[in-house]
Amino acid sequence: MIKKSILIKIITLKSIILFLFAGCSNGTNETAQLACSLDDPCNIRFPHVTAPSTPKGQAAALFEELAEARFPGRVTVDVYPSSQLMTDDDSLPALFAGEIQMIAISLSKFDRMTQAFQIFDLPFLFPNIEAVERFQNSDTGQNLLGTLNDRGFQGLAFWHNGMKEFSAPIPLRVPEDANGLKFRIMESDVLEEQILNMGGSPQKMALGEVYQALQTGVIDAQENTWSNIYSAKYYEVQPYIMETNHGYIGYLVAVNPDFWQSLPEDVRTGLEEVMDEVTQWGNQRAEEINLRDRAEIVASGDSEIITFSEDELAVWQQSMRPVWEIFADGIGRENIAIAQSLN
Ligand code: SIN
Repeated sequence: MIKKSILIKIITLKSIILFLFAGCSNGTNETAQLACSLDDPCNIRFPHVTAPSTPKGQAAALFEELAEARFPGRVTVDVYPSSQLMTDDDSLPALFAGEIQMIAISLSKFDRMTQAFQIFDLPFLFPNIEAVERFQNSDTGQNLLGTLNDRGFQGLAFWHNGMKEFSAPIPLRVPEDANGLKFRIMESDVLEEQILNMGGSPQKMALGEVYQALQTGVIDAQENTWSNIYSAKYYEVQPYIMETNHGYIGYLVAVNPDFWQSLPEDVRTGLEEVMDEVTQWGNQRAEEINLRDRAEIVASGDSEIITFSEDELAVWQQSMRPVWEIFADGIGRENIAIAQSLN
């Protein structure tokens, strides 16, 4: 019998090869599932990398519950949280190859495929989650949902996590305090420039490796949301958390277009309605979950939280503007202007 870990490696290797050979040019593949009946239910495998308690973890669990309740015996959803099945990097080719059927990956991690989502990484562009919500709900934001449709990733929804904070072994009161520190970042060139701009050394790394890397000194610092910092226990090994709210983590929930079109119409439209309900529920709760986890970190006493006055934050905001200039043309200056007008 093949062991689960070996099976996952075989699946991943096969899907990466398919992804590379397809040149990532469209979403057609031979493995899309074609039936959804009582004899042969549609199975949606939905891996993700965060803990069940996080905004994404809770939304994914609700999708499983509501989808199965709406189509009893016809649809099954298996959610795999906490990188149990695979990393985000592996799930892109796996969705493309039809090995999994749904993903919710940080917008930052689509950097190799499109510059359009880089807008969400521009430091200090969005002052809060409400501003992100207004932009995502605008015509421009809704058009962004379809950015990768013809490349094998049909966007169904944007899900929020929350605003990002820095954590470090020393207090970072001004950006220059980061000088010489090694920061873990997601796979994003904008985030790389953001850290270089602060004088730090950026290291792209999967979420599942960060705790140990912090603990062993492979990296010194990182940036993430309160819910990820709490659920992944970074606060235990990071004495200072800077409440800068300097960036956003949110997700593109996507499916393989061939798979989605192969579903019976009533199932597809029903699942899209479920997705809308879950998106509304999850996006309303995301901030509350992050504030709850912030309070848990404060109560632990393990990390000191550094807060900033408006004037102090203005110094951070000003110092990051050169990062915008590097990416503005690729993102589209008009889109940045629209986001600013909705702040
Ligand atoms: C996530 O929230 O899905 C992951 C974010 C990260 O990799 O830091």
